[in-house]
Amino acid sequence: MFLGIDIGTGGTRALLIDDGGRIVGACTAPHEDMRMERPLWAEQDPDDWWRAAREAISGVLHEASVSAGDVRAVGLSGQMHGLVILDEKHEVIRPSLIWCDQRSQPQVDAINEKLGREKILESIANPVLTGFTLPKLLWVRDNEPHHYERVRRLLLPKDYIRLRLTGEFATDVSDASGMALFNVARRQWSGNMVTGLGLDSDILPMVYESPAVTGVVSPSGAEATGLRRGTRVVGGGGDQAASAVGNGIVEAGIVSCTLGTSGVVFAHMDKPAYDPEGRVHTFCHAVPGKWHVMGVTQGAGLSLQWFRNQLAPDADYDALTAEAAKAEPGSQGLFWLPYLMGERTPHLDASARGGWIGLTAKHTRADLVRAILEGVSYSQRDCLELVEGLGAQVDSVRVSGGGGRSGFWRAMLANIFRRRIVTLETQEGSAYGAALLAAVGGGAFGTVEEACRTAVRERDTDSPEPAAAALYEAGYGVFRSLYPALKPLFPRMV
Ligand code: XUL
Repeated sequence: MFLGIDIGTGGTRALLIDDGGRIVGACTAPHEDMRMERPLWAEQDPDDWWRAAREAISGVLHEASVSAGDVRAVGLSGQMHGLVILDEKHEVIRPSLIWCDQRSQPQVDAINEKLGREKILESIANPVLTGFTLPKLLWVRDNEPHHYERVRRLLLPKDYIRLRLTGEFATDVSDASGMALFNVARRQWSGNMVTGLGLDSDILPMVYESPAVTGVVSPSGAEATGLRRGTRVVGGGGDQAASAVGNGIVEAGIVSCTLGTSGVVFAHMDKPAYDPEGRVHTFCHAVPGKWHVMGVTQGAGLSLQWFRNQLAPDADYDALTAEAAKAEPGSQGLFWLPYLMGERTPHLDASARGGWIGLTAKHTRADLVRAILEGVSYSQRDCLELVEGLGAQVDSVRVSGGGGRSGFWRAMLANIFRRRIVTLETQEGSAYGAALLAAVGGGAFGTVEEACRTAVRERDTDSPEPAAAALYEAGYGVFRSLYPALKPLFPRMV
């Protein structure tokens, strides 16, 4: 038996699989909402993740009636890019600035000024973005020097859970890729970035390939979770690379679209391929010696979550998508810009703002929700176009994440992407991928590819319908024109 643990944004999910990759049980423990002290700021408390991880792990063992001794290895995945800083006693210094926090534009500008964009691209295969970990660390240096001087260790969200489980400071290549400190082509820390910015390399964790064993559950980790001490813990992956493993995106030809809080279009690469403008990320894959490219919509499920929280607190997501289905395709000319936390792909603009454009007195709440689903899907199409432009062959798109569970949204994606949309027998993304990585590290499979070939199977397909696809093609043209028209105004909206 193998355990995957995904530290998401909304909650932590623990999932057990058997030696053949079949799901035995799963349990999710929700997180506290992210704190947004100011627009575009977002923080969570690492000890709340640990509380949720403990609940989810003991919950799944209990619910599936599995004894801890049967768990042969654990894999971790998690929200990427978050800043976790620890002092000399290994205590968390301040809440984590998480992946969608956009406060660090001044630090990004200073890094670009100091090192030069070309040297940066050469060093880490990506531009430095506000969402990445490095500028967040420098934000703390510039704004909270009393915190910065206590920093002895720098970790990513899932690797804080690893520390609490095993006592080890470690990460994996896929998650390290999103810190803006990692040489993605060489799969090691970037001396150019670390020494070039005067950072102490001792604060960085050890880096492993994703299926490699990074340590074992310690006595205190065992006591807190109910796992057996000595259980192996593998590197695991950033949530997107782990989700790609769970979706079988470990060879060329299949692309995935994961609709969680963020939305990500992801393609496997045998060699690193770069967008010279850095609009998609080029990161190490959770498959040893392989890479991936991905385009990210910051506010995918987040758009719907925001709508529900603010405007429909009594509705659940199924009720909202059912309501959206009552509106006409195209939402009577209403468009949603999903830039609630700025945007990464394709705009790389921390100041971008979201909203509906095209409202009339005739529009209903059903149109508002449908426009949100359409706007997020158009934004994912932006990602797909760029990923394809880098040479990824896209025959079909495997969809997962909360949004992928909606048949209505999948049919819409088929029409907006003009591609077959495929669902898998296991509707689990990152936690399942993390469990498969544990199964590889624990010896049940020889390679990640072998694990995916055995365990990942397609279930349903939605194909584009010509009339709806044509209507959405025209809508996509309008959507693409909206950001450039509004761009000059965003920095003035403060
Ligand atoms: C990927 C990314 C998100 C977060 C949260 O670059 O930022 O996928 O990991 O899910």
